[in-house]
Amino acid sequence: MGIVYDPNSQTFHLQGKSTSYIMQLVKSKYLAHVHFGRRVRGSNLGGLLAIRRRCSFSPSTDPNDLTLSLDTLPQEFPAYGGSDFRVPAYQVQMEDGTTVSELIYESHRIYAGKPQLEGLPATYVEEDSEAESLDIVMTDAAIGLQAVLTYTVFRDHDAITRSVRYRNTGNRSMKLLRALSFGLDLRHSEFDMLHLSGTWARERHIERRPLASGGSVIESRRGSSSHSLNPFMALLSKQADEDHGEAYGFSLVYSGSFVAQAEVDPYGTTRVIMGINAFDFSWLLEPGEAFQSPEAVLVFSAEGIGGMSRIYHKLYRTRLCRGEFRDRHRPILINNWEATYFNFNADKIEELAVVGKELGLELLVLDDGWFGKRDNDKSSLGDWFVDLGKLPKGMPDLVSRVNRQELAFGLWFEPEMVSPDSDLYRAHPDWCLHVPGRRRTEARQQLILDYSRQDVRDYIVTVITDILASCPIAYVKWDMNRNMTEIGSALLPPERQRETAHRYMLGLYEVLERITSRFPSVLFESCSGGGGRFDPGMLYYMPQTWTSDNTDAVERLKIQYGTSIVYPISTMGAHVSAVPNHQVHRTTPLDMRGHAAMSGNFGYELDLTTFTEAEKEAVKRQVALYKQLRPLIQFGEFYRLSSPFEGVDAAWMFVSEDHKEALVAYFQVLAEPNAPLKKLRLKGLEAGSNYLVYDADAPEENEELIFGGDDLMHIGLNVPIWKGDFRSRLYHLIMEG
Ligand code: DGJ
Repeated sequence: MGIVYDPNSQTFHLQGKSTSYIMQLVKSKYLAHVHFGRRVRGSNLGGLLAIRRRCSFSPSTDPNDLTLSLDTLPQEFPAYGGSDFRVPAYQVQMEDGTTVSELIYESHRIYAGKPQLEGLPATYVEEDSEAESLDIVMTDAAIGLQAVLTYTVFRDHDAITRSVRYRNTGNRSMKLLRALSFGLDLRHSEFDMLHLSGTWARERHIERRPLASGGSVIESRRGSSSHSLNPFMALLSKQADEDHGEAYGFSLVYSGSFVAQAEVDPYGTTRVIMGINAFDFSWLLEPGEAFQSPEAVLVFSAEGIGGMSRIYHKLYRTRLCRGEFRDRHRPILINNWEATYFNFNADKIEELAVVGKELGLELLVLDDGWFGKRDNDKSSLGDWFVDLGKLPKGMPDLVSRVNRQELAFGLWFEPEMVSPDSDLYRAHPDWCLHVPGRRRTEARQQLILDYSRQDVRDYIVTVITDILASCPIAYVKWDMNRNMTEIGSALLPPERQRETAHRYMLGLYEVLERITSRFPSVLFESCSGGGGRFDPGMLYYMPQTWTSDNTDAVERLKIQYGTSIVYPISTMGAHVSAVPNHQVHRTTPLDMRGHAAMSGNFGYELDLTTFTEAEKEAVKRQVALYKQLRPLIQFGEFYRLSSPFEGVDAAWMFVSEDHKEALVAYFQVLAEPNAPLKKLRLKGLEAGSNYLVYDADAPEENEELIFGGDDLMHIGLNVPIWKGDFRSRLYHLIMEG
């Protein structure tokens, strides 16, 4: 790992474990991109960049050298207005209304470690020896704009992070109209684009399509990263699959509206840009002021999509997630939402805890409905005071009743919201996002608190802190159930109204930092109607996310498979729920629901008190098995084996870091008539070792099957062909000797 600048060729070489990222200064001014991909030694870095004269429609900046055109130069941080007609990474408007700018190299600095980003989540290092960073200072002297491009390369992860700090060094104000996190011109366009799309209850389905001329864009304009399109995009070589081929990943550490675009120009260069969505964004920079972009995490793998995912998994699990729970096993929980919805009281919750204890569960989560007059979703958000009708002796009493059953206690909040029917709204009608004279559009009968305001943030931090400090609450579910409309703030001046959405995000991050650092022993799980804000920004504050409101085992195969493209297993909440399933009315066996949910942070979300003795016995077995397998599932390496998007079955596996233990989960979603024999080629094992393979649910009934790692990886594991739909099996593999 290291960053080397060669003054002769004016090249920068960022070397990761097995990747190289190379840039070159052209005419000592323009920062050109040379290579991002497999690691090279760099024997002639200065000779790699090819520049060719095109036509007058790609003009040159220098009348004496028509070879160089910014329109065809592969660039690191493209501008608008000075002869590059492709999509820019930034745009600035001056007081005189002009929007032309050009950034020229000024200086650079290479240093050990990785800087934090002011007010924003980002990957981090614990010791300076884990990373090296590079700041490249670019300036537009004519207008007094400085952009510091920051790059970090890691010792232990094949990832490169990029971010930009914009500063007004002049003496006139300017407005950033576009302030993205990076630009990158890859020198060919033979790519497929892969991204994660969906909607509520159908999040992060995988889509793959060839790039074509022009722009391929994914974005959110919803004020949150959204269910619809995740802030992630991959470019894949045409032949790339799970295990082979080149895969580039681009992931944004941000939870608000974003844009990612791959634009193929007429000469086959692919320009990738990513950052805060410029749509309805601007940021006023007074002289001396700075603006920090979010961080983008760029990953290259020559080992296909799976290789790319495992780089993200390890980096995000160990150097994005933080806090005491980063490396701790996550508790098995029972959540009362699908068990009772709003219809509960203290006795009912205690009954759930009593059965929970009998079954071996570790945490009871009280979901929506414990505060204000919240008997349905029409009121009370903002009134974070216990409903003494439901919990007559208050929260401390309920918590101790649950704790007496040896379950920890967790509580749901939706702290970014306010119901029009609430005391908070009646007292402070201007505390929500709104535009004077316009309708305040409600969604789920609620409005969004204006987190760009310090007074709103202070109020929320105080009320949440009071509750968390009042009794031993071990877990918080932080929900957020709508997207932004009428984005405006009562406190911002007209010229800063378009800053509201990003100021909201900065405010949210400030609140999360204050609350999570005040309660370091509390496990926080984020949620936004399930996975509407499943993004790296939220994971920085809360190491797990409720993956989806869809708890159907079949739907979960796709949702969890898609989510695993970027996000580690330890970040995915997954619960067994009742049948017929509340979202799709499908009935699947308890075994399959258990196996799907055990492939994440395991829990239950149904009324345990209605279980038969036989069901209780089955759940006890699931819970005991998960406790045994939990380290492997939550912290092992994850391999996708068979895609639920492609056939009638699905499979994945977890392998311990030392390769001595593995778990394979196989799901037959639909039975096929007279189906061909199926073999699952396993991954990540040691070819030269033997593994004992058995059905994890019934180890005592198993015959001893021993296979070589090479047999299992190159020939495959025989999986059953069952009659009937919705069947599944977990295979536990233990290395011999
Ligand atoms: C949406 C969440 O995703 C659900 O799990 C639940 O907490 C409800 N909100 C409660 O209103």
